[in-house]
Amino acid sequence: MMGIPAAVFVVVCLYYYVTQSVRVGAWQGGGSGPGLICGIAAGSVIVFEMLLWPRKLLRRLRLIPAKYWLAAHIWFGLASLPLAIAHCGFHLGGWLPATFMIFFVATIFSGIYGVAVQNLLPRWLLRNLPSETIYSQIDYVSDQAVRDAERLLVGACGRRANSDISIEDELSDQLAIRETVVVGAVRQAGKTSGRTLETRQMNRAKEDSVTLWNALDEIRPFLLHGKRELTPVTDTNEASAWFRRLRTACSEEGQEIIDILMSLCNQRRQFDIQARVHHWLHTWIPIHIALSIAVTGLLAAHVWTALKYW
Ligand code: HEM
Ligand code: HEM
Repeated sequence: MMGIPAAVFVVVCLYYYVTQSVRVGAWQGGGSGPGLICGIAAGSVIVFEMLLWPRKLLRRLRLIPAKYWLAAHIWFGLASLPLAIAHCGFHLGGWLPATFMIFFVATIFSGIYGVAVQNLLPRWLLRNLPSETIYSQIDYVSDQAVRDAERLLVGACGRRANSDISIEDELSDQLAIRETVVVGAVRQAGKTSGRTLETRQMNRAKEDSVTLWNALDEIRPFLLHGKRELTPVTDTNEASAWFRRLRTACSEEGQEIIDILMSLCNQRRQFDIQARVHHWLHTWIPIHIALSIAVTGLLAAHVWTALKYW
């Protein structure tokens, strides 16, 4: 929607610059008439681009909807690059204009990177990460996953062999047995539905109790903190081998529990990817802002020195 005005803007300026350069027989530099016009056009875009900042602070005014501002920001920002290149007549000049040009190009590339990740990554997440959760809740959901796994084990194979069982424990075990259904239902662990878990798992995997509790101990740090923790399931390949060994060590009845432990690990793995994507989506903005502040300072310095010695 802003692409056409930006294209017209850049084509008009470049047409003037190129026709004048052809007439003179050389690419015109920053100090020439057409070069200066392109420079002033590119410089005005920088000032306009920086307006996105106070506008954000004055969001409540809402004079122009944010999407128009952002579209103008993107298209005019892109248009300013050929203008700046024409302006300098393909010379970087002294250290100040050269530094300015480098920061300017870097700012634009950081903006292009931002637009690309903001458009591509959320769609990719939606398609590839079925277990995506709200980023800030990853720790909480991981904590819940461990609790679910513990409840599941209590329900399926009873408490650890060496734990003392009080009346409260027994009551909470009863609760756990009922709540294990939630593990299957909500998390869609494996292919088992909540209902089959409910009818089949109770007291079924008792003989695997020690093996499964130990297994859970080994993978607990991974379920809680993801790939930061070195566990037998941190590496995907090692994880499949580890789970295969666990399967052979357990009875037929333990297999369903292993399915669920595996799916909790997969879920945690997806949270790690989600956290990485979140990082890519958000770290560019401070970089873009820092570069754009530097560029504004360099613009002022460049205009000052260039016009002083012109
Ligand atoms: C994005 C904005 C701009 C960039 C990246 C930029 C970059 C440059 C560069 C690299 C040169 C050196 C060219 C050479 O030595 O041959 C130059 C020269 C020059 N620029 Fe800019 N410039 C910009 C905006 C402006 C603006 C807004 C003005 C004035 C209002 C301006 C005025 C000049 C002048 C007068 C020269 C010639 C100086 C000389 O030959 O020593 N520039 N610019
Ligand atoms: C010299 C040129 C540029 C300058 C000085 C500049 C400066 C800025 C500033 C100050 C912000 C406000 C940051 C905030 O408070 O959120 C911003 C945001 C943004 N810029 Fe630029 N920018 C430039 C070029 C570009 C280009 C070429 C693109 C894309 C192709 C771009 C894409 C964006 C996007 C997508 C945002 C919004 C970030 C968000 O809040 O989601 N910028 N820019």
